Amino acid sequence: MSETLRQKYEAAGQGHVFNFWSQLSEDDQKSLVSQLGSIDIERVNRVYSNAIQSEKHAAESNQSIHQGIEPLPEESFETILGAPQKEAQWREIGLEAIADGKVGVLLMAGGQGTRLGSSAPKGCYDIGLPSHKPLFQIQAERIARIQQVAAQAKGKSPASVVVPWYIMTSGPTRANTEAFFEEHAYFGLERNNVVFFEQGTLPCLSMDGKVLLEAPSRVAVAPDGNGGLYNALRTPFHLPSSNSSTTVLSDMESRGIQYVHAYGVDNCLVKVADPVFVGCCLQKQAECGSKVVRKTIPSESVGVVAVRDGRYSVVEYSEISKEQAELRDPKTGELAFRAANIVNHFYTTKFLKAIESFEDKMAFHIARKKIPFVDLKTGEYSKPSKPNGMKLELFVFDVFPFTHDFTVMEVERTEEFSPLKNAPGTGSDDPQTSRRDILAQQRRYLEQAGATVADGVEVEISPLVSYAGEGLESLRGKHFDKPTVLDKLSSANA
Ligand code: UTP
Repeated sequence: MSETLRQKYEAAGQGHVFNFWSQLSEDDQKSLVSQLGSIDIERVNRVYSNAIQSEKHAAESNQSIHQGIEPLPEESFETILGAPQKEAQWREIGLEAIADGKVGVLLMAGGQGTRLGSSAPKGCYDIGLPSHKPLFQIQAERIARIQQVAAQAKGKSPASVVVPWYIMTSGPTRANTEAFFEEHAYFGLERNNVVFFEQGTLPCLSMDGKVLLEAPSRVAVAPDGNGGLYNALRTPFHLPSSNSSTTVLSDMESRGIQYVHAYGVDNCLVKVADPVFVGCCLQKQAECGSKVVRKTIPSESVGVVAVRDGRYSVVEYSEISKEQAELRDPKTGELAFRAANIVNHFYTTKFLKAIESFEDKMAFHIARKKIPFVDLKTGEYSKPSKPNGMKLELFVFDVFPFTHDFTVMEVERTEEFSPLKNAPGTGSDDPQTSRRDILAQQRRYLEQAGATVADGVEVEISPLVSYAGEGLESLRGKHFDKPTVLDKLSSANA
């Protein structure tokens, strides 16, 4: 068993992973063989050489500065800003698809939230709302509510409309995430409709592409980035109630899911399974879509969705010149490169399945890091003080260059995007800004419904009561002069 494995690794130029073999205990030999057997070493080599080539190509094209980068063509760009009729039309289309059970939701929750600095998965974070609901709960309740809204709009019974929630975790977040859901009774959702799966890992490599060992019997590995989503969708996950060959894609197929909304865990304003976005992409017959917010300040450090070498792409702010960043759209006077990326996507399941055929062409990104390793000569464990190796990551938007029917939909930033990235008190994208933005939105909902809220008074509306400001009509004329948590309308009218 270990002999064929050894030959495979040697043929791939990675035979050094057996360096300490003869010194290992039987148990350690077993665990090394099991780990090495689960790694597709030829793929690792391909991923490495693609990544290196793509990095070289990017460096060369940066010398011939920023050529080949263009704004999005008009036909693939839509906006709901100042377009309430279109928005309403798309909402109807989206609600129909939801009511017909064709829409699923994919959550990317495999990140380690290094900047936030919390040891628990980000979705467990309490941003300090009066109710103290963690991010996972806010999202779960929005799913529950949109199921209800769609059922009501399309005359179906509430229990018949299901939006399954597929939650991508990673080695570092899986156990805590599942335990958190279990502990909170799945926040009221049906347990069967919440499916956990795990993104993959890749070995950490030395600067010349050799697999690093973190112990004599263990390869150092790291999560493969949020773009690991695509491979993970096809990888069997284990559920007590399913056989082991079930994958997210096969589960979607068996439920009749045709359209998917995917998003990152850290946006407290995310409209989970947004019917407007789904409806827009359906009307445009898109196979893939990206929701964006408007960039208005040329120097804002945000990636924008644009066209690079004739293909859709996310272009980082460092990749466009000052002139390009300041360029204006002659028709609207807005920035030409204004489609700021917020990790909020639409896919048809047909497209998600097709990704397998070109996945090898998507180049991973190299992050050069300090990676603790075992020295092959001395056998000593070493914690380097400067970067000694690389972690390889795919980004979820790396699929954009491969889409043909692509739609970008612009939405209002204050209504849909407030990410939690930084530690408390940082002043931007931190728990306080998340809390502020969600409560400000809820005040707007109340005012739109004809209620008034005294200055400085905080009213929190449960997503179970309202998904996007709807259903608050009975509050017309009501004045809130003390802090309130609206978790059912009767409590507000009392
Ligand atoms: P970020 O790139 O902001 O990473 O993730 P992060 O882990 O949240 O924070 P830092 O960079 O360590 O401080 C954007 C989205 O992609 C997910 C995150 O959970 C978040 O929803 N993600 C990121 C994954 O699912 N897997 C990954 O490997 C990385």
